[in-house]
Amino acid sequence: MNNLINWLETRTGFKAIMHEALYERVPGGARWRYVWGSTLVFTFALQVITGFMLWSAYSPSTRTAWESVYYIQHEMYLGHIIRGLHHYAAQAMVVLMAIHLVQVIIDGAYKAPREMNFWLGIVLMQIVLGLSLTGYLLPWDQKGYYATQVTTNIMSATPVVGRDVQVLAQGGSAYGHLTLTRFFAMHAGILPALLVGFLALHIYVFRRHGLTVHDPKHAPDTTFWPDQVLKDSVACLAVLAVVLLLAVFRGAEMSAPADPAVNFSAARPEWYFLFLFRFLRFHAVESLGLTFGAIVVPGIIMGIITVMPITAKVLGNTGHTLNKLFIWSLGAGIVVLTAMAFYEDAHDAGHQAALTEAHRDGERAIELASGPDMIPVEGAVSLLRNDPYTQGPRLFAQHCFSCHRYNGHNGRGVLVTEAGKDKDAASVVAAPTAADLGKFGSREWMSAVVTDYSGHFAWMKNSAWFREAQAKSAAGETVDYIDPDSSEMADWTGGNEESLKSPENADNVKALIEFLASEAAHAGTTYDPVLVEKGRDLALNGSWAGALNGTSCAGCHETIGQPFPAQPDDTGAGSYPTMAKYASTAWLKDFIRHPDAARHYGAKNEMVVYSPQKLSDKDLDLLVRWLTRDYVPTNVPDYADQTDVLKAALAREK
Ligand code: HEC
Ligand code: HEC
Repeated sequence: MNNLINWLETRTGFKAIMHEALYERVPGGARWRYVWGSTLVFTFALQVITGFMLWSAYSPSTRTAWESVYYIQHEMYLGHIIRGLHHYAAQAMVVLMAIHLVQVIIDGAYKAPREMNFWLGIVLMQIVLGLSLTGYLLPWDQKGYYATQVTTNIMSATPVVGRDVQVLAQGGSAYGHLTLTRFFAMHAGILPALLVGFLALHIYVFRRHGLTVHDPKHAPDTTFWPDQVLKDSVACLAVLAVVLLLAVFRGAEMSAPADPAVNFSAARPEWYFLFLFRFLRFHAVESLGLTFGAIVVPGIIMGIITVMPITAKVLGNTGHTLNKLFIWSLGAGIVVLTAMAFYEDAHDAGHQAALTEAHRDGERAIELASGPDMIPVEGAVSLLRNDPYTQGPRLFAQHCFSCHRYNGHNGRGVLVTEAGKDKDAASVVAAPTAADLGKFGSREWMSAVVTDYSGHFAWMKNSAWFREAQAKSAAGETVDYIDPDSSEMADWTGGNEESLKSPENADNVKALIEFLASEAAHAGTTYDPVLVEKGRDLALNGSWAGALNGTSCAGCHETIGQPFPAQPDDTGAGSYPTMAKYASTAWLKDFIRHPDAARHYGAKNEMVVYSPQKLSDKDLDLLVRWLTRDYVPTNVPDYADQTDVLKAALAREK
């Protein structure tokens, strides 16, 4: 062993280097307040290691970035831990950097002759911020995509060269694939190389001047090894522990694949940039323009920090006090702004709804990617574009929510509101004017139609057409309209409601409902064949017990129990809506396209007629498959049922 060491020593002189490194004098003894720099070097090393591991599986292109991060997160061995470490260590670096900076300023460690090193530190800080900014885009998920777009737009606000800077960063006039490859080159190549270079300089210069002694009478001098090394190691391990715990128990989130066609209003920058984001939203700041808020003010602040060594030199102790005062107020300002941003987001119903949708989309994308069909060759972005569970709610909220509701909400989990009665009144919850389609075609739905038609369709009475028709018929005119209270359907039992609700028909009602639901045949439900046959007999032949006996649905709805025709037309359509495979996919598609056809509501129709110009075939298919639950089964929770909230709000408004 000794021979080997001597051999090495004569060739490299490493002993001297080791001695230099380890026996650096630590005036005033080892102290905890000196650990911040070491923890930063440590987290950077961690980033390099985990970064290389991620790189070995990452593929920077708009078609493969999300997909490869999905692979890392969900399939690669320990991938989610590695990604989690990289994600949280990046945030730890920003926090540690802030502490390091504050520490240096409070201790006066920036004063002559250490100005140079202070400035090197500031350069390092910019590089680290650049690394986190560029890293945020790399998964090419909705969050990173839209948040980074805000950043590149801010770049364009730079005076004079703004547009050029933006084009340079984006890789052209548009934001897209080349933005991703450039950001990756910055993130994994240029910035780390710069960081290593400046870090080496920073440490070299630091070693030249040694530690600043804040309080020389604290303790006798020691050397770096072993006292300070021990403290540094403990601090680094503590950082590692925190980062590891977060990586294991929280993990790094991944939102849905970036889709330029879907406006992602839940986008926010990383939390440590929120203060700036919030600052830009002050009306006063907004009115002064983006250049002022995003470039001039941060520029002035960085400028003040940069000249701190000069301030302290020129103004002496007053300067140092001013510097400390500045850094404390800046810190307080950042804390307050960050808290404001969090608080406001938490109390912003619109933002919360957007977040809920973002989580739903993100989880669904991952669910589909790991499902039997996996990621299609067109890329993960088509997963959600072709998914009824994702698109159905959006189409509903685009086309149907103005009259219908879905479990009380607009399809996307949000209560529908309208302007208040008076001009300046706050908006109020709007009353639906057609049936709630949340349970459409289910047993519950069928049960409500058969046993509580008036109640189930009562929402229609809120509509203007209903009030008009009622007024006209009160004035003696004959108007053909649906009146949930006096419709024939409301009394289809012919006055034998009692018999329908009596115990002797309880099993029959159950069988009828089973039959009706099985005709709708929504995906993922199985039906009891014996009950179904019994129900068919009731619907077609009216084989009820007691007074109801002989009253069949077919007495009015002739087509009940028949297949839905491939080419539906109105030949032979009676005066009653067709019940052929009522609420099935085929029936529903035909109904949405032609609610005014004689086979449906004819002249009574009040619903919008959705021609292919209004609603494309593809969208109709997605919407209908969502309403009939025909999609890859999901464990992603749906939007909460808001029926009770809606009813309570409407009752209050009355
Ligand atoms: C202008 C208001 C309005 C809009 C918009 C509207 N509907 Fe309707 N919808 C109605 C009314 C009113 C009825 C009752 C029957 C009728 O008038 O044809 C109805 C009936 C229905 C029914 C039949 C329910 C039953 O009685 O079994 C379905 C299904 C339906 N709508 C789906 C939709 C879908 C899907 C959309 C969006 C693409 C939509 N509706 C848009 C007003 C509307
Ligand atoms: C006395 C005639 C009559 C009988 C019997 C009858 N219905 Fe109806 N039904 C109607 C009428 C009329 C409508 C259309 C609503 C309106 O115009 O008021 C309707 C509408 C419906 C609708 C809504 C259809 C749509 O397109 O949205 C369903 C579902 C329905 N009936 C199911 C049944 C079932 C199931 C039975 C048997 C238990 C039944 N009906 C028995 C007259 C009847």
